[in-house]
Amino acid sequence: MSTSLQAEVNPIALPNTMGLPCVASAVTVFRDRAQLPQLQDSFDRHGMPLVLAGASNVILPERMDRPVVLMRNTGMEVLEPRADAWLIDVAAGHNWHQWVCESLARGWPGLENLALIPGSVGAAPIQNIGAYGLELAQRVAGVEIWDFETGQSRWLQTPDCRFGYRDSVFKQAAGGHWLVLNVRFALPKDWQPVLGYPDLAPLRQRWQTRAASVSAQMVFDHVVAVRQAKLPDPTVEPNVGSFFKNPVVSSELYERLKQTHPHLVAYRQIDGQFKLAAGWLIDQCGFKGKRFGAVAVHDRQALVLVNTGGARMADVLRAANAIAQAVADRFGVHLQMEPVCVS
Ligand code: EPU
Repeated sequence: MSTSLQAEVNPIALPNTMGLPCVASAVTVFRDRAQLPQLQDSFDRHGMPLVLAGASNVILPERMDRPVVLMRNTGMEVLEPRADAWLIDVAAGHNWHQWVCESLARGWPGLENLALIPGSVGAAPIQNIGAYGLELAQRVAGVEIWDFETGQSRWLQTPDCRFGYRDSVFKQAAGGHWLVLNVRFALPKDWQPVLGYPDLAPLRQRWQTRAASVSAQMVFDHVVAVRQAKLPDPTVEPNVGSFFKNPVVSSELYERLKQTHPHLVAYRQIDGQFKLAAGWLIDQCGFKGKRFGAVAVHDRQALVLVNTGGARMADVLRAANAIAQAVADRFGVHLQMEPVCVS
């Protein structure tokens, strides 16, 4: 890992995948843990910094007066494997998709369903990234954090991360003073493809009829193709992926909605509740492709909002509120924002 230390103290524009203008007054580029005492000193004087890496899941304000830390520590350390899994520590600033590619190339399958998700390794546990039937929580053995309140680092075991659907302890009050430094992955030696998601049906059929003919690379290629067909590339059309979480509702509400909307898309949860497809709800309200000034609902995936040029945080929130209100009026379902709205 690099040992260079770089601090910039001047107004600096923060790049973010939503393409929102945001100027910060103090930005530290974190490359190495030798910088931790300096960050701790800044915390003691100015409080908790805003921590960013890929800035692919944040809605940023126009001015950021808090100190900002840009995670740019990269690299991995291969540990002694467990009987059932390869164990690898990966630095928080490592690009997520690059790590997925590296893991497959090194012969460690298990992350292929999570291909092409924008962002960094360190951000992945924060929102417990999930796609195509797999959540990060299923592949994590621990997370190393720096705790600004104690001025020390420590490893959290997986249960301590309190992973939930797009949720974790890192998003909750307990994690409010932590910096994710490294993520420990446990990638299964006895790999089985995860093919339950509807979009993976072609591979599932192949797997069921001709066992062992589906490789991790095939799942990776399929997921990449589906994502490229459905989701806008943030480097071309600035966005933060899904803008709302898929709402989880009671079985009573689900049954009522199903009677009036027979085509409702919903997935039964193990606790008996139902997760509704927010994209379907928004689509039904007629929002696909609709513009709200410089913000548009994507025309292939209604769950994604796109900055068509010049949008600011307020524009994004206005569009989001209008959409959430329409869904609440029509279905009685409350949509929650998925990206972190920074204040
Ligand atoms: N749908 C519509 N209209 C739309 C969009 C979706 O009818 O405009 C319907 C689809 O036909 C489908 C259902 O809604 O039946 C679900 O759509 P999709 O498979 O595209 O997934 P999603 O629920 O919209 C979630 C994640 C994505 C993840 C995909 C695949 C959330 C908030 N989003 O989207 O994650 O890639 O599943 O697993 O859980 C992200 O978090 O940024 C993200 C992109």
